[in-house]
Amino acid sequence: MTESQFDTKRLNTHDQIREKYQKRLESALDKRLPGKDVSPENLHRALRYACLGGGKRLRAMLVYVVGEEMGAALNILDVPACAVELIHAYSLVHDDLPCMDDDTLRRGQPTCHVAFGEATALLAGDAAQTLAFELLARDSALDVSSEQKIEMIGVLSEATGTRGMAGGQSLDMDATNQQLSQEALTTLHRMKTGALIKASCLLGGLAAPSVSTDQLELLKNYGNALGLAFQVKDDILDVTANTETLGKTAGADEKMKKSTYVTIMGLEAARQTCADLCAEAVESARLLGDNRGMLASLAQFAGNRSF
Ligand code: IPE
Ligand code: IPE
Ligand code: MG
Ligand code: MG
Ligand code: MG
Repeated sequence: MTESQFDTKRLNTHDQIREKYQKRLESALDKRLPGKDVSPENLHRALRYACLGGGKRLRAMLVYVVGEEMGAALNILDVPACAVELIHAYSLVHDDLPCMDDDTLRRGQPTCHVAFGEATALLAGDAAQTLAFELLARDSALDVSSEQKIEMIGVLSEATGTRGMAGGQSLDMDATNQQLSQEALTTLHRMKTGALIKASCLLGGLAAPSVSTDQLELLKNYGNALGLAFQVKDDILDVTANTETLGKTAGADEKMKKSTYVTIMGLEAARQTCADLCAEAVESARLLGDNRGMLASLAQFAGNRSF
């Protein structure tokens, strides 16, 4: 499949998914974050700044769409949807710090450390991360068994830690100024970005009244393909899109001498790889039953997005 073959009907489905879940997520998160007038005000303002009012919310949408397809109630799904977006927001705040990617623009606004200072941004990231796990452990809306909660906490912590996002970020820092093999870069991308996207799919399934091992396997395949496609597209957009559309500084990878799919294989091959991975995710969605085509639509959005 090439980019031009993406089906516009599916993109319309993506708009409907956005419409259905984005406002819901925003208010679910708003309710769960400490108020800006609650002490320590500065930390809470930074936390709300980093977590609310922006982003594509792809990870939350995956929780909602997978969960609803498998029969979970929306008010239950609010909790893992907030948890994955909190982890993601934390990863972005830390990723933008001067000691990492040193970026000044995120979601169309100054990055958290530019707005609040480095120390507060660091703490806001820490607080977003711990709130995610606190919600899974204690939020009363998560009306599932203790076994399910423990499994959800395990899945999210594995995806966030050294075998997932944090490990991938470490490899990313090590790879700066280096020419990685494609295999090494794939591992890095699967860890830094793919792991949380895969976990979002799994959390949707784990919140359902029942999910089989076969279904979890298919969700993993879907999440793996989609997660890698998403980061490959992020690498592509860094060189093809402009700062205004992205809401973050275009060309940042080149400036920081990062290893990306574009530097390793060139733009055209990266585009083809992204399209192939999206097709793989669409096939996994089909095997999952994907009745309303929503999972396929999210996979195609990941590859065809312009921001
Ligand atoms: C950006 O993620 C960082 C990556 C892991 C590629 P998103 O592109 O999902 O960022 P938001 O949430 O939409 O801002
Ligand atoms: C970020 O990857 C991955 C995480 C935040 C875990 P990038 O560094 O490519 O993300 P952007 O391009 O700054 O959004
Ligand atoms: Mg980075
Ligand atoms: Mg970055
Ligand atoms: Mg990037």
